[in-house]
Amino acid sequence: MSEVELHRALALGVIATALPTWFALRHVSAPYGRHARAGFGPTVPARLGWIVMESPACVAWLAVYALGSRALGLVPLVLLAFWQLHYVHRAFVQPLTWPRDDKRTPALIVALAMVFNVVNAYLNARQVSELGRYAVNWLYEPRFIAGAVLFLGGLYVNVRADRELCALKAGGAGYRVPRGRLFRLVSCPNYAGEIVEWLGWALMTSSLAGLAFALFTASNLVPRARSHHAFYRERFPDYPPERRALIPWVW
Ligand SMILES: NC(=O)c1ccc[n+]([C@@H]2O[C@H](COP(=O)([O-])OP(=O)(O)OC[C@H]3O[C@@H](n4cnc5c(N)ncnc54)[C@H](OP(=O)(O)O)[C@@H]3O)[C@@H](O)[C@H]2O)c1
Repeated sequence: MSEVELHRALALGVIATALPTWFALRHVSAPYGRHARAGFGPTVPARLGWIVMESPACVAWLAVYALGSRALGLVPLVLLAFWQLHYVHRAFVQPLTWPRDDKRTPALIVALAMVFNVVNAYLNARQVSELGRYAVNWLYEPRFIAGAVLFLGGLYVNVRADRELCALKAGGAGYRVPRGRLFRLVSCPNYAGEIVEWLGWALMTSSLAGLAFALFTASNLVPRARSHHAFYRERFPDYPPERRALIPWVW
C-alpha cells in the first residue's frame, strides 16, 4: 500500500467513525467537565489531562510537518500558521489560564483523545507539507479565502466564548447562566465557532483529511451541545426559552 493510499484509508476511517461517535455521544455524554461522573476507570487532574491529550495536535503535527518535502513552501507555511494559531492556544494557553479547580478527567478519555490527535496530526500535517499540492496561487483561490475567513471567524467566536465561560467559572458559585453576545442566541457558541473553524480548514486545504477532521469535530460537539443545553434547561428554570443549543434560531 502506498502512503497516498494509507493516508486516504485513514481519513476515510475517521469519516466512518464520525457517525457512530455522534450516535454514541447522543446517548452517553463524554464524562468530563460538567458531565463528569464515576464509572469510567482511573482519573487524572483535568488540566494535566487536557495538556497531555491536546499537545500531540501541536507537537506531533509540527514534527510530521517538518518531515515533509514541501515544508518550506509558502502555502504550507501559511497553513502551518493557521493550524498552530489554534493549537498552541488550545493545548497550552487555554489550560494554563483556566481557573484553578480540583476537577479530574478519566484517563480513558485522555488516552482516546490522544490517539485521535496523533492520527489527526499525521493526516493533516502530511497533507499540508507532503501529499497536497499547494502552489503559491492557492492563496488567491476563492475556496482558500472563504476557508480562511471561516477559520478566523470561527476561532474568534470559539476563543471569545471560552474566555467568557472561564470568567464565569472564575467568579465561583459553580455553573451559571452565560449571558450576552452569542450566548443570547445559543448555549454553546464555543462549539459552534469550533465547528465553523474546521469547516474553514477543510475548505482551505480542500482535502479529505480536513473534511474528516471537520466531520469528527461535529460528531463530538453537536451531541455535547445538546447535553449542555439540556443541562442548562434542567438546572435553571428561568433559562432563556428562545436560546438554542448550537445553531442560532434553528437548533
Ligand atoms: N475539536 C473537537 O473535537 C473538540 C472536542 C472537545 C472540545 N473542544 C473544544 O475545547 C474547548 C473546551 O471544551 P469543553 O467541552 O471543556 O467546553 P465547555 O464545557 O463549554 O467548558 C469550557 C470551560 O468553561 C467552564 N464553563 C462552561 N460553562 C460554564 C458555566 N455555565 N458556568 C461556569 N463555568 C463554565 C468549564 O468548566 P468545567 O470544565 O468545570 O465544566 C470549562 O472550564 C472548546 O473550545 C471546544 O470547542 C473541541
